[in-house]
Amino acid sequence: MDLKRTQLLLLFFAFLCADQVRKLNGISIPSCIPIERNALLAFKEGLKDPSNRLSSWVGDDCCTWEGVACDNRTSHVVKLHLRNPSCFEYYPPNNTWCLGGELRPSLLGLKHLNYLDLSMNNFGGIRIPEFMGSFRQLKYLNLSSAYMGGLIPHQLGNLSSLQYLDLSYNYYDDNPPGFLIIDIAIWISRLSSLRYLNMSDVKFREGAHWLQALNMLPSVIEVHLSDCGINTTSLSLPHVNFTSLSILDLSFNSINSTIPGWLFNISSLEYLDLSYNFIWGIIPSAIENLASLKALDLSGNHFLEGKILIVLEGLCKLQYLGLSDINISKNLHELDKVFTGCIKNSLETLYMRNTQLGGYLPDWLGDFRKLKYLDLSGNSISGPAPASLGRLVELVGLYLRQNFLKGVMSEEQFANFTKLKYLDLSQNQLILNLTFDWIPCFHLSELYIGSCMLGARFPAWLRMQKNITYLDMSSTGISDTTGLVLEVIFPDIRLRYLQQWNHR
Ligand SMILES: *[C@@H]1O[C@H](CO)[C@@H](O)[C@H](O)[C@H]1NC(C)=O
Ligand SMILES: *[C@@H]1O[C@H](CO)[C@@H](O)[C@H](O)[C@H]1NC(C)=O
Ligand SMILES: *[C@@H]1O[C@H](CO)[C@@H](O)[C@H](O)[C@H]1NC(C)=O
Ligand SMILES: *[C@@H]1O[C@H](CO)[C@@H](O)[C@H](O)[C@H]1NC(C)=O
Ligand SMILES: *[C@@H]1O[C@H](CO)[C@@H](O)[C@H](O)[C@H]1NC(C)=O
Ligand SMILES: *[C@@H]1O[C@H](CO)[C@@H](O)[C@H](O)[C@H]1NC(C)=O
Ligand SMILES: *[C@@H]1O[C@H](CO)[C@@H](O)[C@H](O)[C@H]1NC(C)=O
Ligand SMILES: *[C@@H]1O[C@H](CO)[C@@H](O)[C@H](O)[C@H]1NC(C)=O
Ligand SMILES: *[C@@H]1O[C@H](CO)[C@@H](O)[C@H](O)[C@H]1NC(C)=O
Ligand SMILES: *[C@@H]1O[C@H](CO)[C@@H](O)[C@H](O)[C@H]1NC(C)=O
Ligand SMILES: *[C@@H]1O[C@H](CO)[C@@H](O)[C@H](O)[C@H]1NC(C)=O
Ligand SMILES: *[C@@H]1O[C@H](CO)[C@@H](O)[C@H](O)[C@H]1NC(C)=O
Repeated sequence: MDLKRTQLLLLFFAFLCADQVRKLNGISIPSCIPIERNALLAFKEGLKDPSNRLSSWVGDDCCTWEGVACDNRTSHVVKLHLRNPSCFEYYPPNNTWCLGGELRPSLLGLKHLNYLDLSMNNFGGIRIPEFMGSFRQLKYLNLSSAYMGGLIPHQLGNLSSLQYLDLSYNYYDDNPPGFLIIDIAIWISRLSSLRYLNMSDVKFREGAHWLQALNMLPSVIEVHLSDCGINTTSLSLPHVNFTSLSILDLSFNSINSTIPGWLFNISSLEYLDLSYNFIWGIIPSAIENLASLKALDLSGNHFLEGKILIVLEGLCKLQYLGLSDINISKNLHELDKVFTGCIKNSLETLYMRNTQLGGYLPDWLGDFRKLKYLDLSGNSISGPAPASLGRLVELVGLYLRQNFLKGVMSEEQFANFTKLKYLDLSQNQLILNLTFDWIPCFHLSELYIGSCMLGARFPAWLRMQKNITYLDMSSTGISDTTGLVLEVIFPDIRLRYLQQWNHR
């Protein structure tokens, strides 16, 4: 008790003379180191700061300045966190809230810096300065969404302590558009401590040999290379070295080949995103080697053979399966074997939008006990919505838009959907037999029932769904629209589509 009191007093005292000596737990520690304070002030000189974010950067104790953190033992500045989410609240960013200007090398005065985050600012397309490669102790560098451009300096390869490198989303829509560019990626292989790499939106020049560079980093865990202009050139590997790789995102590139075979040797892989490339051919049975796989996205590879999905049967940990925009061309019941295997116990998300599926909705859909999101929109599925759907107690999003579904859906079928937020049944010929004063167990955010038959009166139950932001109930047969002000019923509504009330 007494000790606590003394500590409190000391702390109070420490506040009083904070500018000279700070005291913590009775141990005196020097305040901010003057050389580092001057380095920060000189760095600030180069910045543009219209909203005066750095107004606290005055006085002696730089360790108390906003975004600055010191080691509480040595007082060295170890962390600079100038991420600025308010800059990106709107797109394009409102520069009033961004830091901009130049990045002066005076920053190098911070010799003990191990964390630097300048993300979400607008540096107007300047290059990443070469001196950034000189922070020997840097473990974390985040220049994501900072509007930097041009060639990434090879000097970054000197950051031998770096564990996190995030250079993503530096695309800016000026004229001409700008982005970060990698010419030769070999410097990445010198980042021997690297574990997390994100270069989404960085453009890789042909011959960058990025894959060969990454393959020299056996401890890398996550790699995000979405929308990097990567194509099939030098996409082969003689021997796979990344034995720790868990996440690989190569979505939205231009890979025009079969699924690269070396992928199947990375048995640690849990998340593989190859969506929206030009991958063709079959899904080889070697995919069964990826027994840890929790998420697989192959959507948007229009020439992938969808016919033999049976190889997915053995992926017993799969939670997320993206197969949208692939030509599967099957009747749903032909997929029985795939989806009645162990996958049905793990799957939480199944996206099969626009896949030329036909047939009826099978009863086994009700067996996916963990299913949260089901999207079968844009297919040729016919028949009724089976009663078994009602067993999906975890469902958050159900998307069946644009099929040939027919028949009656009853209140009972919705009775288990306590978590439902998104419901899209539009462009079918369904009859929703819901009583006027039904009390649904869910609170929707988005509801699309255009062209479903609803009845003449605007339902009382719909008025209770206060959280709706998107609503399409065109052509639902409603005729009593007088005095209906949707903005009053749904205070958060952003999109509504109610034309042709009576056209049915
Ligand atoms: C510095 O302070 C933080 C909490 O404020 C504490 O977690 C950390 O252990 C301290 N470090 C040293 C070296 O005293
Ligand atoms: C940016 O924010 C400032 C301050 O809130 C505001 O006055 C200005 O109109 C905004 N500019 C734009 C383009 O939105
Ligand atoms: C980098 O900053 C962005 C915000 O700008 C954040 O979303 C991202 O998670 C950060 N990256 C890492 C590796 O922490
Ligand atoms: C940093 O990297 C560059 C090019 O990669 C190299 O020429 C230079 O010698 C390195 N600097 C230091 C201090 O290691
Ligand atoms: C980039 O990837 C890292 C993991 O490698 C992740 O932590 C980070 O959030 C990603 N950045 C953005 C902006 O999403
Ligand atoms: C691969 O992309 C590069 C530029 O990113 C381009 O010059 C080259 O022609 C492309 N190669 C193929 C085979 O498409
Ligand atoms: C595998 O990684 C080690 C260590 O980084 C490296 O020496 C070796 O050259 C790599 N092998 C290949 C085939 O890239
Ligand atoms: C993949 O593993 C097989 C069997 O372990 C091995 O023969 C083959 O060389 C490996 N391929 C690559 C690209 O590492
Ligand atoms: C993929 O490559 C093949 C053969 O090299 C070519 O005919 C085809 O046009 C390419 N597809 C795309 C989308 O580039
Ligand atoms: C609701 O879920 C329970 C438990 O899974 C199940 O027994 C019941 O049949 C379901 N109700 C409907 C209408 O499907
Ligand atoms: C609608 O449901 C009621 C019971 O709630 C039932 O009596 C009626 O037959 C149903 N109508 C249709 C078209 O299924
Ligand atoms: C409505 O949305 C708000 C904010 O997203 C949430 O906190 C609230 O729980 C929601 N209400 C219902 C009834 O779901």
